[in-house]
Amino acid sequence: MVCLGNICRSPLAEGILKAKTNHLDVVVDSAGTAAYHVGEQPDIRSIEIANKYGIDLTSQRARQFSVNDFDEFDKIYAMDSSNYANIISLARDERDRNKVDVILNESNPKSFQSVPDPYYGGENGFQNVYDMLDEACNIITQNLEKR
Ligand code: 4NP
Repeated sequence: MVCLGNICRSPLAEGILKAKTNHLDVVVDSAGTAAYHVGEQPDIRSIEIANKYGIDLTSQRARQFSVNDFDEFDKIYAMDSSNYANIISLARDERDRNKVDVILNESNPKSFQSVPDPYYGGENGFQNVYDMLDEACNIITQNLEKR
């Protein structure tokens, strides 16, 4: 799960997908394309919205996406089209590129819709982000269960 800062959207995506897939043999992680917030806890507003649904994000720490992640993970979900372009620009070959998708393409195929960056918005933005990610993660989980 990749966003810009790895403090708002992708930590929530990580927490939500981890909660849904705890019966499956999958590794879920998150990162940011930028390094501004490396080492920080998720934004308090992400922690609070996750808490509302019984998900604890407090042990997460922000890290920057690295080329190594193409080797570690089978699937890389970008939160928006800007993150998508940044990740694609780091891909070494077609195999790397094929691992990358925009997360909302799971709920709205080929739409390339973005999870809106809630960083400068109000509390409602985080609920909106939660709802979008919850829907996408339900579909990701259903597909993982079919493996
Ligand atoms: P995120 O949100 O990419 O969902 O973690 C942001 C967090 C920080 C900044 C931008 C977006 N920032 O500019 O510091």
